Amino acid sequence: MKILANDGIAPNGKSQLEAAGFTVVTEKVAQEDLPAQLPDYVGIIVRSATKVRKDLIDACPDLKFIARAGVGIDNIDHEYARSKGIPVINTPAASSESVAELVFSHFFNLARSVHRSNVELQLADSNFKALKKSYSKGIQLRGKTLVVIGFGRIGREVARIGLGMGMRILPVDPMIEKAEVTVDMHEAYGGSQTIVLETVPLSEALPQADFLTLHVPTVNKPILGAEELATMKPTAFVVNSARGGVIEESALLHALESGQLGGAGLDVFVGEPNPDRKLLEHPMISITPHTGASTVEAQANIGQELADKIIALNLV
Ligand code: MLT
Repeated sequence: MKILANDGIAPNGKSQLEAAGFTVVTEKVAQEDLPAQLPDYVGIIVRSATKVRKDLIDACPDLKFIARAGVGIDNIDHEYARSKGIPVINTPAASSESVAELVFSHFFNLARSVHRSNVELQLADSNFKALKKSYSKGIQLRGKTLVVIGFGRIGREVARIGLGMGMRILPVDPMIEKAEVTVDMHEAYGGSQTIVLETVPLSEALPQADFLTLHVPTVNKPILGAEELATMKPTAFVVNSARGGVIEESALLHALESGQLGGAGLDVFVGEPNPDRKLLEHPMISITPHTGASTVEAQANIGQELADKIIALNLV
């Protein structure tokens, strides 16, 4: 039984599936060739690059599963697949810590202009003393207010790091009233403290945010548009590592250019893999190419969770 891992799979997941009797093919099949080639496979594993839309599902009536190596399943017509009896598997728990750490990479960049220093100091004619002066107004994260929009697994992981750093956390999530977050020491020391955090309405949280991060699925209407951004502090930093479009990109550019916002960190974009160049080149934006879950640890967790779930389908 052959599985096509069209956007790759971590070595541990591949070996686990092979040990269970599957053949795992990792040679990439171009999107347009999938309708002809996928019927040879029992299932497909994708990350975000490969799309599994209705036409592809219709071309493969015998497919036994569609697996997403990650959290978001917006690149899969999952409801349609399930209506055809094809299970859609994802790995919601595997990458939370890595995504949360990337959020803080952007916060630290923005708070100390690290992303700008990296670019500008590399220039042959850079002026060290002038740059030292221009970047002398950094801020600390300790003591600041962090707004977390979407308080699921990733949001809570961000809160855990923020609490550990001495930040005040304001979670925003209409689905829950409060949630427990446990801050635990490294196993070498032991010990932990559990804090109960109560959610607040978005309109109440926005004007208080020094730092803000979103952890929500793809939405039809942006969570942060011009109206919401206008209520924030002009010094606030926002990070989007969820999905392109949860912050309205044109409104974000306007807010940065008109001094309504301090800066932004973007890991995700509308129109990936060809985002708007105005965002990529903007000096007030720290950027990464959708690498929130791209760590050795997250990919190993994803490989294991996927393999466990596929094996549990009892196909071999
Ligand atoms: C996810 O949904 O898991 C992330 O966006 C990671 C990814 O697509 O690489």
